[in-house]
Amino acid sequence: MDATQSRPVRAIVLGAGYRGRAYAAYAVAHPDQLEIAGVADPEQAETISAPRYWHDWRDCLAARPEADIVFVTLPDALHYEAAMSALDMGYHLLLEKPLARTEAHCREIVATAVRRGLLVMTGHVLRYTRYFAHIKAILDSGELGEVVSIAHQESVGFFKIAHSHCRGNWSNSRKSSPIILQKCSHDFDLFHWWLGRKCRRVSSFGSLRLFRPENRPEGAADRCMECPAAIERDCIWSARKMYLEYGERLGYMFADTSRKAMEKVVEESPFGRCVYACDNDVPDHQVVNMEFDGGATVSLVMAGYTERNVRTTRISCTGGEIIGDGETLHICRFGCCDADLDATSGPFSHREHNPSRHGGGDFNLVEAAIRLARSGEAAEIRACTEGSLESHLIAFAAEESRLNGGRVVELK
Ligand SMILES: NC(=O)c1ccc[n+]([C@@H]2O[C@H](COP(=O)([O-])OP(=O)(O)OC[C@H]3O[C@@H](n4cnc5c(N)ncnc54)[C@H](O)[C@@H]3O)[C@@H](O)[C@H]2O)c1
Repeated sequence: MDATQSRPVRAIVLGAGYRGRAYAAYAVAHPDQLEIAGVADPEQAETISAPRYWHDWRDCLAARPEADIVFVTLPDALHYEAAMSALDMGYHLLLEKPLARTEAHCREIVATAVRRGLLVMTGHVLRYTRYFAHIKAILDSGELGEVVSIAHQESVGFFKIAHSHCRGNWSNSRKSSPIILQKCSHDFDLFHWWLGRKCRRVSSFGSLRLFRPENRPEGAADRCMECPAAIERDCIWSARKMYLEYGERLGYMFADTSRKAMEKVVEESPFGRCVYACDNDVPDHQVVNMEFDGGATVSLVMAGYTERNVRTTRISCTGGEIIGDGETLHICRFGCCDADLDATSGPFSHREHNPSRHGGGDFNLVEAAIRLARSGEAAEIRACTEGSLESHLIAFAAEESRLNGGRVVELK
């Protein structure tokens, strides 16, 4: 028996932020399967328990720690360099999406991994949730016939569009990556996976409607805590309300959610800025139309201004349809509708025994990465690695189309 079969898989975590902590939590829940061998982060490495720490991912890899897999959960701009270095050293990768910020770099990472027989699994957690996997199982069963069209909406949530895509890390496409890649590579991954076919053509429109300097109320300050009370009180986007009152909705993004720490966030960090005085440029709404091999059409709406952060889906097949509101699936064969299936409770739930976010997807994804890394199954590893690229290619094509007035872009 290979030694890796009898001991936990050893992982190095590069970047101990929200994603690094989410994946590392698997080692706490399943110490027999995963061991964190070291963590690199300049600010919060020790929020993850490990025997070794480094300030920078470069120092960590230079030390060539004993490990099987590297979790790259760094800011987008660092993915390419860190991924290429780790692959050169022979580590498998759980590489957060986006794989890299340009199509050329994404292709290079995947080609390098394939050449070296290494795994690149990206953070497409949704296909690892019961809800979305159940859709896949129904489509694969053929019970509803062939998929003809999909209408899908990613509702970002008003709190998340302001936090991540106006004030936060993913607000400026030059510094991070286009929002359609950042937010919707998950959705493109679902379409590609559900249909089992490649996307051929894409067109897209979208823009930044609200968080622009010209929409700033007269007299508003640059930071919410310095804003005149009369303006701040009526502002939906006030950082004081977002981080000190809405609490739960954004708390999971921070390692320390004590009142004192969150006050510091509002008073000192970029998250305390007025939403009309940030250096943001990413769209707050975008639509993408796609045609897949075989003719199935898909439309995606990315909507920033919604109450909830949820994905809703309608899939029309030749013999029936699936309607999903993000929690419940209504599955109907034409002429004889089945009962609704609640995908977040009862037999479809992973919540009770899997406390991670993303409907259980985070843990299931880590589990799949561990299984592949220790299996040595060349064909499966290659399929997973190449599959990671597809969603990114659709996103890059969509952004190219949007920047060219909606021109149709053919995927190579
Ligand atoms: N799969 C998903 O659903 C999902 C969700 C959110 C974010 N992401 C992706 O995950 C990645 C991380 O996002 P996050 O939300 O965890 O961000 P984050 O800011 O919470 O975490 C990033 C961490 O990297 C650390 N870091 C920065 N420079 C470093 C360096 N030189 N060496 C070591 N560590 C360094 C930062 O200190 C920070 O703790 C991003 O690429 C993002 O796009 C994926």
